[in-house]
Amino acid sequence: MKTSLAFVAALLLFFSACTADRPTEVSSPNGAIRLSFCLADSGRMTYQVAVNDSAFILPSALGFEARNGVNLSDGFKVTATDFSSKDTTWTQPWGENKSIREHYNEMTVHLKNAAQTHLTMRFRLFDDGLGFRYEYRVPGVDSLFVMNELTSFNLANDGTSWSIPANFDTYELLYRTLPISRVDNANTPITFKTTQGVYASIHEAALTNFPEMTLKHTDRNGFKSELASWPDGVKARFAGGNFNTPWRTIQIAPKAVGLINSGLILNLNEPCALATTDWIRPMKYVGIWWGMHLGVESWIMDERHGATTANAKRYIDFAAANNIEAVLYEGWNQGWESWGSMQTFDYTKPYADFDIDEITRYAKEKGIQIIGHHETGGNIPNYEQQLDKAYQWYADRGIHVVKTGYAGGFPNGHSHHGQYGVQHYRKVVETAARYHTTLDAHEPIKDTGIRRTYPHMMTREGARGMEWNAWSEGNPPEHHEVLPFTRLLGGPMDYTPGTFDILFDKTRHSPRRKKWNDQDKGNSRVNTTLAKQLANWVILYSPLQMASDMIENYEGHPAFQFFRDFDPDCDWSQALAGEPGEFVVVARRAKQNYFLGASTNEEARTVIVKLDFLEKGKRYKAVIYADGKDADWKTNPTSYQIKERMVTANDSLSIVMAKGGGQAVSFMPI
Ligand code: NOJ
Ligand code: CA
Repeated sequence: MKTSLAFVAALLLFFSACTADRPTEVSSPNGAIRLSFCLADSGRMTYQVAVNDSAFILPSALGFEARNGVNLSDGFKVTATDFSSKDTTWTQPWGENKSIREHYNEMTVHLKNAAQTHLTMRFRLFDDGLGFRYEYRVPGVDSLFVMNELTSFNLANDGTSWSIPANFDTYELLYRTLPISRVDNANTPITFKTTQGVYASIHEAALTNFPEMTLKHTDRNGFKSELASWPDGVKARFAGGNFNTPWRTIQIAPKAVGLINSGLILNLNEPCALATTDWIRPMKYVGIWWGMHLGVESWIMDERHGATTANAKRYIDFAAANNIEAVLYEGWNQGWESWGSMQTFDYTKPYADFDIDEITRYAKEKGIQIIGHHETGGNIPNYEQQLDKAYQWYADRGIHVVKTGYAGGFPNGHSHHGQYGVQHYRKVVETAARYHTTLDAHEPIKDTGIRRTYPHMMTREGARGMEWNAWSEGNPPEHHEVLPFTRLLGGPMDYTPGTFDILFDKTRHSPRRKKWNDQDKGNSRVNTTLAKQLANWVILYSPLQMASDMIENYEGHPAFQFFRDFDPDCDWSQALAGEPGEFVVVARRAKQNYFLGASTNEEARTVIVKLDFLEKGKRYKAVIYADGKDADWKTNPTSYQIKERMVTANDSLSIVMAKGGGQAVSFMPI
């Protein structure tokens, strides 16, 4: 009874809105989303949001708490309110869409309190959601210690949510489908469908010099921001009294695919900061990698060493023969013996059986790029000490793409996702820029769209990727239908799809295989069909897209033609249909070709898709890589069929998918 009275009171408050002498409300350009800012008598701030005139976010707190008497949360008075609008289209050097419309209405509320804290609350409303950030100016302060964020998200309605638990050290966790009201804590993006039928996702944009935000359940359908901290409990520290926070974002869409097609996160980042971008380009790659995860090769230099000169050249030959631009080598440098203990990797000392000069010479001769690798094991001081030298060393050898890794705890009680971590990841981005080096970060800080500002920060992991299938219970079938609606809303993911030996028939009983990971029970496998592996190259967007199996599993395989034809350098993309955790269909255009990927969870499913995204008046050869009639992810995962059809934009495709299956289609104009 108590709760429902409180709820009614909150609703009344919502609809009476704020009685202020100034307008404190702003709407999205199409008018569907409305946000109001309110100041209570105490000078405490709240905001609330309506979607299509229904309460969507009930009055929710704003502000921060700080140490040493600095007041960031109350006693505020509004000194001015400004309104403005923007409608432009900007282009990016690469991206799922090359051009993006930035169309919003902005409300900036200028506030001041008795402690002389100046605060600008900047609210931006787009048709696909909203963002707000805090811009604090506290005069006369040498250092400022943020201890707590009050920002809350009190959803008006319950519903279904998809998220991983909050964790300040890893995002490699299984997704949960839970009623919103039953989520104790979550990392962002957390996506939900409310009982009103609104799809939304809470995340952040432009995480630059701040700890990451996670969400903690408060009551009913409410959450509060919970920031990662420094070892001493401080959440964010600043020299001087000025700081801007990242944007707190809520993507909002009437359909689930609207979240995928939204440009909100990129639009809330700063424009490109690089003088030139012609050195940054999407590529397909293979690498000496999966063999180590399966346990038949090793990172260290022993009799099973993967990154040998001969093997490196074999991969270069394969790439050159298969329309693949790049090759990754892991386990090429000294220090892997210390992985899991001292983590003292040396980034300029190759192992003796990896002849870097000969390999780079050979790669150049064959027109293949090398993707370098820096595993840190989390030893940030060791990496930062070598940072410049390491990037210079690679650049001197013509290596301008680097995959980084942080598989291990950070030293001295630091968490991966605290302000210390965010600053470190940014330092690497800035260093790489100086050497015109493109980055692919594993165990990264979450993607908040900084690729708009730094397009060489191209892709990252930041969720359970393919590797988990090699040595654990693996990623369940629905994982791939949750990722596009959650993790990938932040940006590209280096998931590394493409296992063809789904049941590990070629390696499971190999005398070379050694268990190296505690989670390996000897019964690991990939939990999809083969066709779904191909579909994931399209669906799980990464401009550096890997065919991750060992190349011997691709040699002579008819289905590998899809990857040969595939082009990760998109001009346009659209999610056509889907529901989180159930299925998803995505189409992309790269130059004159189109690619389509569709996938389903454990349920077999048929989806009819109109091909009206193809260019009108043109005829295309569609090569369809489908599940076999008897395919089933569990019992018969490698059954597939390849069919060809002539199609135009007037046609439809009936996509038949097996349990845990999928379909990939390439469309090439005739
Ligand atoms: C974890 C990364 O995600 C994986 O790709 C890499 O092979 C290992 N760390 C070793 O660096
Ligand atoms: Ca990883």
